[in-house]
Amino acid sequence: MTKQENKLTASRRNVLKGLGLALGGTITGGYAQAASAPVEHHVTDAPVGSDGFHQRQPFYGIHQSGIANARPAHGLLASFDVLVKTPDDLERLFRTLTQRIAFLTQGGTPQDFDPKLPPADSGILGPDIRPDNLTMTVGLGDSLFEHHPWLKPHKPKLLQRMTKFPNDALVADLCHGDLSLQFCANTPDTNIHALRDILKTMSDLVFLRWKQEGNVPVIPPSPSGEIESARNFLGFRDGSANPDAGDKSLMNQLVWVGEAHQEPDWAANGSYQAVRLIRNFVERWDRTPLQEQELIFGRKKMSGAPMDGTNESQVPDYTKDPEGKVTPMDAHIRLANDRTHATQKNLILRRPFNYSNGVTKSGQLDQGLLFICYQADLEQGFIAVQRKLDGEPLEEYIKPVGGGYFFILPGAVDEKDYLGRTLVEAIRNHPDNKV
Ligand code: HEM
Repeated sequence: MTKQENKLTASRRNVLKGLGLALGGTITGGYAQAASAPVEHHVTDAPVGSDGFHQRQPFYGIHQSGIANARPAHGLLASFDVLVKTPDDLERLFRTLTQRIAFLTQGGTPQDFDPKLPPADSGILGPDIRPDNLTMTVGLGDSLFEHHPWLKPHKPKLLQRMTKFPNDALVADLCHGDLSLQFCANTPDTNIHALRDILKTMSDLVFLRWKQEGNVPVIPPSPSGEIESARNFLGFRDGSANPDAGDKSLMNQLVWVGEAHQEPDWAANGSYQAVRLIRNFVERWDRTPLQEQELIFGRKKMSGAPMDGTNESQVPDYTKDPEGKVTPMDAHIRLANDRTHATQKNLILRRPFNYSNGVTKSGQLDQGLLFICYQADLEQGFIAVQRKLDGEPLEEYIKPVGGGYFFILPGAVDEKDYLGRTLVEAIRNHPDNKV
């Protein structure tokens, strides 16, 4: 029976069931049973969603969403070239982007008024756009500031073009960009829908350069209530030692640009975003002994515990292991954070997703990490940590191929505000632009 035939039969059943009730229950036996049988499901029926569709992240606030809130299962990072010539164009871009993000992240019902025009929405989510925990986070690349003399004086102090690290094999088509948009949502369709909305509504202002989708595995809550970090494609829990994003004063120190960071005034409450597309050689990794894998990271694979501990949340004590007999001196976590007072300024907030892109020409899985991290100081944060990791044993199994650095705009505080307003005002108030 086809899906349509089944639906027809089901509706006939309902008619007869209704009749049965009207006739005082004269329809008996098998038929009554069939009427109350559970609805049959077909392979291509839409999977039934959960309450997650109604989860909503606030859009307005001094910081953009999508950085300090808990990471949902799906992420997408898109990088664009920006097609603006004047400050007025830039303001239009920011205002349009703000309006689209405010709508897409909060949800609503697009209206079609004229069937002779293209539909208001792609329709891939149906008639109602559900928020689905969506956040869209906007960053600006070094090239945007460099290309326009009226923007250049306002470039954030540490914003720069990502340069090659020793283990990188950067692919030009997967690097840099004038503008980054990070989409995070409970389902990948919501991210794709939002991206298509931007491409359609802003086609005269932005041009897609590259994108990478990713996800992290959803795990059932543990009976003990313990919350564990999601695993990456090397099978290790990833995020165990991430700074606590709920600690506002820590976030002000590490993530959000403030007075202490000596950035242009317009940049207050923004942040630096470092993105890296890091291929994982998973076939080689899967043939590596467990003991070696654990020593490469400095954590136990199943529990996520540090080498000198028994559970994920424990903090390794390197003072008791000065020669690296328990946690090697070149273990990933020990190089990334040696846990001395002097290196606390190098802490970063990671928000990574795993990606799986298909098969390479040599028949290997093209899988890896869409590494994204945030910091108030790009040099003390990502760049310093990556330099410490240069030459680490993990490099045999990973190859960074793309990414870029972006400056995350401050948030739009309310309905009258828009993303990028402080930058536009700084441009207009600059002596060269005053008439
Ligand atoms: C494919 C590449 C990578 C993989 C598979 C990976 C995996 C991991 C894993 C499993 C941990 C231990 C659990 C945790 O604390 O999250 C970890 C920790 C960490 N990673 Fe990575 N990582 C990668 C790339 C990077 C990069 C590019 C950076 C920054 C430049 C970085 C910075 C860190 C930091 C700061 C820690 C926490 C160290 C601590 O405080 O103990 N990782 N990573």
